[in-house]
Amino acid sequence: MAKPNTEYTCSSCNTSTRKWSGCCLSCGEWNTLSEQAVAPKPVAGTKTVSTEAIAATVAAASLITLDQVAMPSNQQRQMSGLSEWDQVVGGGLMPGAFIILTGDPGIGKSTLLLQVAAGIASTNKRVIYFSSEESLAQVKQRGQRLAIDLSQLHCSDAASLDTIVATAIAEKPDLLIVDSIQNCYLSESERTLPGSVAQLRQAGFTLMKLAKEHGITVIVTGHITKEGNMAGPKVLEHLVDGVFYLQGEDRWHVRILRAVKNRFGTINEMGFFEMGETGMDAISNINKHLLSESTHAPGAALTCSMEGTRPLLLELQALCVPTKFSMPQRVITGVDPKRVLLIAAILEKYLHTKFSGVDIFFRVSSGCSIKESASDLGIALALLSSYFQQPLPEKSIALAEISLTGQLKPVPMMTRRLNEASKFGLKFCFMAAGIPGLEPGPSNKEAAPSESSLKAVCFKSIYELLRLFPEKD
Ligand code: TYD
Ligand code: MG
Repeated sequence: MAKPNTEYTCSSCNTSTRKWSGCCLSCGEWNTLSEQAVAPKPVAGTKTVSTEAIAATVAAASLITLDQVAMPSNQQRQMSGLSEWDQVVGGGLMPGAFIILTGDPGIGKSTLLLQVAAGIASTNKRVIYFSSEESLAQVKQRGQRLAIDLSQLHCSDAASLDTIVATAIAEKPDLLIVDSIQNCYLSESERTLPGSVAQLRQAGFTLMKLAKEHGITVIVTGHITKEGNMAGPKVLEHLVDGVFYLQGEDRWHVRILRAVKNRFGTINEMGFFEMGETGMDAISNINKHLLSESTHAPGAALTCSMEGTRPLLLELQALCVPTKFSMPQRVITGVDPKRVLLIAAILEKYLHTKFSGVDIFFRVSSGCSIKESASDLGIALALLSSYFQQPLPEKSIALAEISLTGQLKPVPMMTRRLNEASKFGLKFCFMAAGIPGLEPGPSNKEAAPSESSLKAVCFKSIYELLRLFPEKD
């Protein structure tokens, strides 16, 4: 029997296998394998070509030093006027950049891109918007809702990639938007369905070449489905210059634009938008939003997390209740559960608090997530505050890392964080001792940081944290 000339590729980790299975054996994701044709293998017995033989047939590339490389003349970044977008992409879009915007269906990708397109078109740039998902009437309807200047935008509902490329080369736009890449089809490889891994890879490669060879900025959108059975944008990530995720919290109407890869800016940069009646409004003062949600109650502690270049004031919320089960429950979101459990173990070891006998529920306000260890002290104080059922001092913020030996360690970018905290009227900062310029005086334990009105309350080790929770009579 002839061997099948297809293989199955995982859209999550890109591993290929000959046999289909429901679960990818490499990364463990379900329903991510999709079928594609494989290139024929060289016939057995074919001689491998020596490097000398290759060198004899092919001319060597001409090399130049980097200082001699000619730069494109128009390197001015394209500003959309939508402040949060411009900041997250690294201060406007770079000419010739190829980026992907991805997120759940209905999160607002098309809305955001239409606003960006209109903003850039209004600066006398030529913008072409290919809507392969929606009809032009739908795009017009959205444009009217967003109250953008419809006469500036050139649109098409063509979904053939060859047509898109031909149009781009003929029209020479500054910005080309393809919404979405999964819905485009390639004429020469009709066997590949729109959305399959092979189609995505080829479409991505073609658009990348278009961006680089003609200096056209290309933005494509891509979907992630909950089941992951459609080839996700993961396979494109190594091709593109930037990967941006649009995420949302249902209760909040806030959409977070997150840069996870950006060759022209900072990664982990975040932008905040509010989805309203007339499209996405940039929230320039996100910390005001975040602080309006904070409470002065047992179990709550504030911390400041650096997301890209932006300090975010986040409330950590802990709830510790005596367990009724043999195995206490741990329900933790927004921060690595192992980190919370490690801090609970450190507190139990050195302060003799019985966290192993309580259920721990833990979350970060407003659906944000924290990766930095600068929030260690905040986690510890939130846990202790709930454990002792005593609130922390009002208008206080915690910023320190905790070592396994129970020592408090300083965290980077302290001045940025303190300045942001003092801007919002916070009064105390619990932090590690030993930070130059922020050290307390010898007579008392509090001193004013040099550049903010906050009072620094310094601790050397977690033993000293107990003084924040005096025993009740
Ligand atoms: P859309 O941009 O179509 O999402 P995506 O392209 O990511 O699939 O956004 C669709 C949702 O946004 C839809 O539920 C309606 C809502 N919406 C608003 O709330 N206000 C608006 O002004 C617009 C245009 C959309
Ligand atoms: Mg859309």
